[in-house]
Amino acid sequence: MVKSVRLSGDSVLPAIGQGTWYMGENASQRRQEVAALQFGLDQGLTLIDTAEMYAEGGAEEVVGEALQGRRDRAWLVSKVYPWNAGSVDAMAACERSLRRLKTDYLDLYLLHWRGNVPLEETITAMESLQQSGKILRWGVSNFDRDDMAELLAEEGGHACAANQVLYHLASRGIEYDLIPACQQWQIPVMAYCPLAQGGRLRRELMTHPLLQQIAQQKSISVAQLLLAWVIRKDGVIAIPKASSVQHVAENAAALEVVLNAEDLVLINQAFPPPESKMPLDVV
Ligand SMILES: NC(=O)c1ccc[n+]([C@@H]2O[C@H](COP(=O)([O-])OP(=O)(O)OC[C@H]3O[C@@H](n4cnc5c(N)ncnc54)[C@H](OP(=O)(O)O)[C@@H]3O)[C@@H](O)[C@H]2O)c1
Repeated sequence: MVKSVRLSGDSVLPAIGQGTWYMGENASQRRQEVAALQFGLDQGLTLIDTAEMYAEGGAEEVVGEALQGRRDRAWLVSKVYPWNAGSVDAMAACERSLRRLKTDYLDLYLLHWRGNVPLEETITAMESLQQSGKILRWGVSNFDRDDMAELLAEEGGHACAANQVLYHLASRGIEYDLIPACQQWQIPVMAYCPLAQGGRLRRELMTHPLLQQIAQQKSISVAQLLLAWVIRKDGVIAIPKASSVQHVAENAAALEVVLNAEDLVLINQAFPPPESKMPLDVV
């Protein structure tokens, strides 16, 4: 059975979507990136996550190309720089994103991280964008529990439709308080870097003997195990970035991987859950 997540009441989406950071950086990769995103849509990876920051708009252009003739099949998320999240600049930033994405609306618009613009002003800007039909919902990214509590205390804050934060097996801090709080508030958590992105941590996970053993027993890859682990919790959606059809196919198949209680006990022994508050990890 495919694991799904309810996003802001009306949308139920498969619990794995597609990230786009580092797409649009290199013209020679563009065709492959477009093909990977389109293949992902065909496989049911409906949510596509991008941002004005990625390749300074280049990733949004790749997504725009991938969505030609397919816009209605995607659930499109983009993000605004904190310094563009004020009452005047948000409208212009969103319009620039929409132009690059070759669409007239976003399903979700996120504040990329918290900056100097007061939350109250960002909420008002997001509400104006919603009223103009340019975005259907808004949310935040890189908000820890206290930031979320502040947001929810603002008038209109409860309309926040998601919080996108770093979460993978080697970074479990948000399990201590942020995930339970978001579950209680019924605000979905969008897990970025679910495969630990790159570098040392990723190598450690991919080559970890226990993970390799569990993956082998299930005839899956370690990447699929990592994704299945991230989405095991209710209300969590993972957005791995994959720029090859092969990786996208693997990631889509991870929606059907089931981890049993014994797997989870073994994984907890090797990667213990947090026992106290930890600072929110960011990249
Ligand atoms: N809100 C924020 O501040 C924030 C921060 C970071 C990321 N994000 C979002 O979250 C998305 C995901 O995070 P991320 O891109 O940083 O890291 P990630 O998804 O954890 O890792 C991406 C890496 O994993 C590889 N990969 C994908 N599928 C694979 C598979 N099945 N087997 C082996 N390797 C695989 C990709 O390779 P290939 O590309 O070669 O396929 C790429 O090198 C981003 O793209 C972005 O949309 C948001």
